Amino acid sequence: MGGKGWRPPDTDPTVPSVARMYDYLLDGRDNYESDRDACRALLLKVPSMKALALNNRAFLRRVVHYLAAQRGIDQFIDHGSGLPTRDNVHQIAQRVCRDASVLYVDNDPIVSAHGRALLEGNPNTSVLQADFRDTDLIFDQARSRGLIDFSRPVAALFVSVLHCIPDADDPAGLVRQVAQRLVPGSFLVVCQLVSDNEEIRKSVSSFMDRATEHRWGRVRERREVASYLDPFEVVSPPGLVEVSGWMPDNDLIRPQRTFEWEEWGGVAEIP
Ligand SMILES: C[S@@+](CC[C@H](N)C(=O)[O-])C[C@H]1O[C@@H](n2cnc3c(N)ncnc32)[C@H](O)[C@@H]1O
Repeated sequence: MGGKGWRPPDTDPTVPSVARMYDYLLDGRDNYESDRDACRALLLKVPSMKALALNNRAFLRRVVHYLAAQRGIDQFIDHGSGLPTRDNVHQIAQRVCRDASVLYVDNDPIVSAHGRALLEGNPNTSVLQADFRDTDLIFDQARSRGLIDFSRPVAALFVSVLHCIPDADDPAGLVRQVAQRLVPGSFLVVCQLVSDNEEIRKSVSSFMDRATEHRWGRVRERREVASYLDPFEVVSPPGLVEVSGWMPDNDLIRPQRTFEWEEWGGVAEIP
C-alpha cells in the first residue's frame, strides 16, 4: 500500500474492498494483500478480469469526453467513483470545459481520503463519502456545496457499480429515482458486469458477496441491464454494447481474450 501504511481508521486491511481490488487491476498502489489475493482467486474463474477493468476505465474516459465535448455537459455526479487513477472524471471534463463540476460519491474511506487530497485547490469538485443508494443525501450535498445547478443538465454516472447492488435494493429503481430529479437533456451512463454463463453469474456473485465487506449484488444478464435504461433514449449508435465497443477512439484498446463475462452498457438521454 502507498503512503507508508497510513490508512483511515475505519479500514480493515484484512477484508478485500471492491475499490482496492479494482485499483490493483488498474495497476494502482492503493491495495492490500487481501485485495490482491481476492483478485488472484477471481482470475482463476474469470481470466479476462484485468482487460475488462482497463477497458471499463477507458470507456469511462471516452464517455465523459463525449458528453463534455459533444453534448455540452459540464456537471457530473459520479456514483461509486473508485480510487483516483490516471485520468479522473474532473480532469477529462475540465480539459474540455475549465469550470466543469464533479461530485464524486463512494462509500470506501480510502477513496474519500485520497480523493480529497487530489482535489485540494480544485473548487469545482468534491468528494462525498456516502452510499450511492442515498439519493436524497447526494442531491442535498450537491446543492449545499454549491457544486451542481439542477436547473441545468447533469450526467449521472453509474459505471461498473450496479453489480454491487443486490436485487432487493432495486438498481433499476435507483437509476429512475436519480433520473426523475434531473432536467431533460441530462444523461445517464450505466454499465455493469454481465455473463451468458449461469455458473459464472452464480459463482462470481457468491465469491464477491463472501469476500468483501459490504453485501454485494449480482453479475446479471444483458436484458436486465437494458431494462434500467428502458424509459430513456439510448444514444445509438452504438446503443448498449460490451464497453470496449462504445465509440472506440484508438487501436490501443486491449480486447478481452475471453468473454466469460463483460462490462456491458451505454449512455442514455433523459427526454
Ligand atoms: C469497480 S469500482 C468502479 C469505479 C469507477 N466507477 C470506474 O468505473 O472506474 C466500484 C466502486 O463502487 C464503490 N461502491 C460499491 N458499492 C457502493 C455503494 N453502495 N455506495 C457507494 N460506493 C459504492 C466501490 O467502493 C468502488 O470504488
